Amino acid sequence: MRTRVTDMLGIELPIFAFSHCRDVVAAVSRAGGMGVLGALYFTPEELEMELKWIDDHVDGKPYGVDVVMPASYAGADFAPEELVGRLQGMIPEGHRAFVDDLLAAHNVPESSGEAGKVLLGWTDATARPQVEVALRHPIALLANALGPPPADVVELAHQHGVKVAALASTPRHAVKQVEVGVDIVVAQGTEAGGHTGEITTMVLIPQVVDAVDVPVLAAGGIGDGRQMAAGMALGAEGVWTGSIWLTVEEADTPAMARQRILAATSRDTVRSRSWTGKPARLLKNEWTDAWESEDSPGTLPMPLQFMLVSDALRRIGRSDASELATFPAGQIIGTMNQVKSAKDVVFDLVSGYIEAVERLGGLEK
Ligand SMILES: Cc1cc2nc3c(=O)[nH]c(=O)nc-3n(C[C@H](O)[C@H](O)[C@H](O)COP(=O)(O)O)c2cc1C
Repeated sequence: MRTRVTDMLGIELPIFAFSHCRDVVAAVSRAGGMGVLGALYFTPEELEMELKWIDDHVDGKPYGVDVVMPASYAGADFAPEELVGRLQGMIPEGHRAFVDDLLAAHNVPESSGEAGKVLLGWTDATARPQVEVALRHPIALLANALGPPPADVVELAHQHGVKVAALASTPRHAVKQVEVGVDIVVAQGTEAGGHTGEITTMVLIPQVVDAVDVPVLAAGGIGDGRQMAAGMALGAEGVWTGSIWLTVEEADTPAMARQRILAATSRDTVRSRSWTGKPARLLKNEWTDAWESEDSPGTLPMPLQFMLVSDALRRIGRSDASELATFPAGQIIGTMNQVKSAKDVVFDLVSGYIEAVERLGGLEK
């Protein structure tokens, strides 16, 4: 299957798998697609270890790294050394009390006092070291969520021979990304898991394809070969997927989350600011409902919201309060009912795509 994207990156199949799990990334790249590791949760030292592992397990096949460099966030003008302290001071006491009360109402045990990661890689200061680590490895693609990456980061990647992709949820975003030198636009519809806009994949893809001259990948709601064929019919030159890898054999998704996804319908997700402060599609449950309730103090801007809730989410994950455990998930979870290997998911996408294209070809006769 050849498109401008497969030629650009030297891959056999225009299938991209976003995952925070190195095993999934390596398995998809070995199967002929391209695994892209989400760097967000890793410190630069941890990312170095993950990428070293992928280098050792990917059989020389191309893979990518995804960072989150938002175009705007609270505290963007603070110096890196004072960033965390100053941001912590911006979180109102009323918000802290709301989270404490919510957890107490669900009998979530107190914090062990262990310091967690409160900022993650979604500020310029925390994402740049991740980019530096990534570029020391033989990556083929650097992707950025949440707006156009800084122009100097795009240039640095290009100097290393690395192509740059960026996620767009409007044609206007896509044009801005191309202006800073992005090589591939990932047009992501509102169905998608994680940070997401308001326009559906079906409506968005042709608009983005018409707005830019670089190749476009279709993202949001792609779970089988028919959806892949639809994305390609709309003008995309490949597909970018996230949710479908949460339940593959190789994924490190916690058992409870895996069960929730396998049982969920496509109505069980919601676009909510309760995780990071920017709208993200999450599993809908008592956590997301609480932030929409009358008692809610409202969410805080990125990155304050995650700083406010990160310890709470960790405590929930270790407790029996599974009714509060939310995580990013797209509407496609409604059709994810079986655990398969990543290789089989890639194979099913390709065979379903071929069947769909042949069926459409047959209609012409
Ligand atoms: C659990 C999860 C975490 C995600 N985290 C990120 C992220 O850190 N960076 C990013 O660019 N996209 C992230 N995404 C979005 C994916 O890159 C992808 O665009 C999206 O999953 C595609 O839609 P789908 O979920 O319907 O396949 C995430 C998606 C999921 C499901």
